[in-house]
Amino acid sequence: MSLTMAMPIHKSVLLNEAIETLQARPRKRYVDCTLGSGGHAEAILEKILPGGQLLGIDADPDAIEIAKNRLHNYVESIIIINDNFANLEAICRENSFLPVHGILFDLGISSTQLELSERGFSFQDDGPLDMRFSPTQELTAADILNILPEDKLSQIIKTYGEERYSKKIARHIIKSRPIKSTFQLASIVEKAIGSRRGKIHPATRTFMALRIAVNSELENLATALKQAMACLDHQGRLVVISYHSLEDRIVKQFMQRESKGCLCPPETPICQCGHTPGLKIISKKIITPSPSERKSNPRSRSAKLRVAERL
Ligand SMILES: C[S@@+](CC[C@H](N)C(=O)[O-])C[C@H]1O[C@@H](n2cnc3c(N)ncnc32)[C@H](O)[C@@H]1O
Repeated sequence: MSLTMAMPIHKSVLLNEAIETLQARPRKRYVDCTLGSGGHAEAILEKILPGGQLLGIDADPDAIEIAKNRLHNYVESIIIINDNFANLEAICRENSFLPVHGILFDLGISSTQLELSERGFSFQDDGPLDMRFSPTQELTAADILNILPEDKLSQIIKTYGEERYSKKIARHIIKSRPIKSTFQLASIVEKAIGSRRGKIHPATRTFMALRIAVNSELENLATALKQAMACLDHQGRLVVISYHSLEDRIVKQFMQRESKGCLCPPETPICQCGHTPGLKIISKKIITPSPSERKSNPRSRSAKLRVAERL
C-alpha cells in the first residue's frame, strides 16, 4: 500500500504559533528536525520563499516518504534527510547548511505512526510490539518487555509513563512473558490495574513509557538541543513543541541554563566556569493550544511550545 493513500493525515499542532515564533523569512535557512507529515515544513516553506532553504529531518523512512510527496512542489528549496536529529550538527555540516536562522522540534509521534497497527505504537488495533521510529534501530518494545528484569521495567514505566502502578504492571508483565502483541500487552496492563480509570485507557501510560525508552527520546532531545546552539546564527530562533512533562523539563532547563552567564555555585567568589549566555528566552510564558485547537485536535492537548533566540 502506498503510504500516502488512506493514511490518517497528521494535523500539525500549534502550527501558526510555531511559524510565527520561528520568524521564518525569505532568503534564510531553517531546519525542521521532526518532518513527520510535512505540515510545519510546508508552512515554513510558504514563508521563506523566495530564496529560503529548509532542511527536514525524520528518523522514520515512512514519514520521509509522506513528506516528500506532500512537499514535491518545493524540491528546489528543501533537503530531506532520513536520520536521527541527535546528529543535527553533522547533518547540517554535511549539507553545507550552516549557520541556520531557525530550528523547529515538534517532538514525539505523529497520528500516522500511531494509527498504523504494524508499527505497534497503539492498542487500538493489534500489532507487533515494535515502536521504533527507525527500522535501523535494533531495540524494540518487545525486547524491553521480554528481556529486562522486573525492577528495570517498573522504573521505565514509572519514570517515562508517570504511572503510579508501575510495580504491579511490571510484575504482571514478567508473569505473562513472552509478550508479542499490542493487544496482549494492553490486556496484561488492564488485568494488573483494572479497567478504565477516567478518560484514558489503563495501558496508555505504559505504551508511552515504552515508546520513549525504545527511541531514547529524552537522551536524543538533550543531545540535539546542545547541537542546535552550534548551528544557530546570531538571532536565530529555537522553537520546541513538547508533549510530555519530562521533555518539557529538559527544554525549559536547557533554555534557562543557556540564558544565564556564570553557572558557578553562589559561594564561588570569582567565576571559574566562564559560561556566557547563549540564548535569550522569548516565551516567558509557555505557549499552549487554543481551546478551539484542543477541541478540534485532542492530540494537541498536552502540547507546550517554548522559544529562545540565539545571542
Ligand atoms: C509530531 S511528529 C511531527 C509532525 C510534523 N511537525 C507535521 O507537521 O507533520 C514527530 C516526528 O518526529 C520524528 N522523530 C521523533 N524523534 C526523532 C528523532 N530523534 N530524530 C528524528 N526524527 C524524530 C517522528 O518519527 C515523527 O515523524
